[in-house]
Amino acid sequence: MAIKPVLRMGDPRLLEPSHPVKKFRTAELNELITDMNDTMTSLNGAGLAAPQIGVNLQVVIFGVEQNPRYPDAEAVPFTILVNPQLTPVDDETEEGWEGCLSVPGMRGLVPRHKKLRYQGFDEKGKKIDRIVSDFHARVVQHECDHLAGILYPMRIRDLRNFGFTAELFPGEDIAED
Ligand code: NI
Repeated sequence: MAIKPVLRMGDPRLLEPSHPVKKFRTAELNELITDMNDTMTSLNGAGLAAPQIGVNLQVVIFGVEQNPRYPDAEAVPFTILVNPQLTPVDDETEEGWEGCLSVPGMRGLVPRHKKLRYQGFDEKGKKIDRIVSDFHARVVQHECDHLAGILYPMRIRDLRNFGFTAELFPGEDIAED
């Protein structure tokens, strides 16, 4: 296992589109996923994309456990998603607060599709095909944006809704990532 440094906004590698994974069940892919998992877990992240640890491949992981301290935050099943394709189900969008391990200590209000279908593969090459909504849909869109070289601040409509977590949410116990 290895915890990798997470690239931060400003690093040009975060702006590059990622390449599809061509082979499954390889030592390289397994190692990448282990590193991503170790890194995300060590930082208490909700998700991580391969380019955030400097690997230019279409791999994302995400997952949020139900936390009694945050009853409003829905649980999202832990998922490894390779070569994802996202398809909005309809035109409905919704604004919600997001943070990112590559933009530490900040939050922004970001519009996302409320409901979407995502397809791709797990780490063994087995097909994944889900229709999800709300927070699950938001997390997937955020992570898959990384694979297109897009960071969430680039999607904020009104930059007054972008700032340091501690200033935006004073007194609230929100993770500083
Ligand atoms: Ni992110």
